[in-house]
Amino acid sequence: MSLKIRVKLAEIVKIRKKRGNVELNAINIRNHPKFSNVYISGTPQNLKLYTKNLVLGQKVYGENLLSFKGEEFREWDPYRSKLAAMILDKPSLEFLSQDLKCLYLGASSGTTISHLSDIVCEGIIYGVEFAERSMRQLIQNTDKRKNIVPILGNANFPERYANSIFTPIDLVYQDVAQPNQAQIAIENCNYYLKNNGFLILAIKSQSIDSVQKSEKTYTQEKKILENAGYKIIDSINIHKYAANHIILTVQK
Ligand SMILES: C[S@@+](CC[C@H](N)C(=O)[O-])C[C@H]1O[C@@H](n2cnc3c(N)ncnc32)[C@H](O)[C@@H]1O
Repeated sequence: MSLKIRVKLAEIVKIRKKRGNVELNAINIRNHPKFSNVYISGTPQNLKLYTKNLVLGQKVYGENLLSFKGEEFREWDPYRSKLAAMILDKPSLEFLSQDLKCLYLGASSGTTISHLSDIVCEGIIYGVEFAERSMRQLIQNTDKRKNIVPILGNANFPERYANSIFTPIDLVYQDVAQPNQAQIAIENCNYYLKNNGFLILAIKSQSIDSVQKSEKTYTQEKKILENAGYKIIDSINIHKYAANHIILTVQK
């Protein structure tokens, strides 16, 4: 191949990457070895995560869309989504499956919940968010996703959104960055989560105590969960992707 043609081809790839809709058969997208409906590419040192797009052609937060073997994948950015960061850090337990019924606390404008929606494609996610502006964005970004039920509500008062939740819950995911993170999780899990169901809890130490050492804050939050009868299965430090955060896998 002449140098001129090679330069031209490199330019085309660059333009497509810029558009964010990349068709590169050089990327080998394959199943994640552990998590159903999660996909990977690259080497273990440079692993990328993807989910299969439920809404073809639609991005939620500017993520790359890739076509591979006739299917469309959304690149899942661990710097934007703590669930992706956690999965990259190899949790010991597989807690996802395609028919899960989930309660998502702190849905914000839809970044992580949209990937969860790709994953639980035959399940349902109730997404609670108390900021009206974020809720408007959530609805705009996810209105074509039939498995997301947006709920404008305050996670401190789980009983107030009981009339919007129609199924027992298998998985609670919480990312609310509040001073009482563990307590909010316990109250929602006591109310909605099935026995033996799982809670995935993002803990941001700075929202609880900005002076105390993060490790001490994490220990305190874990104690609150254990004293309420919950079992901590995994504690994953995701500081590399999100400052002052750990993610816990907890079982009721
Ligand atoms: C860190 S952001 C969540 C990001 C989101 N989980 C994602 O990865 O796409 C925290 C969100 O929780 C919401 N939030 C905080 N406290 C809440 C509460 N008590 N009830 C409901 N939502 C709350 C905030 O408005 C904010 O949108």
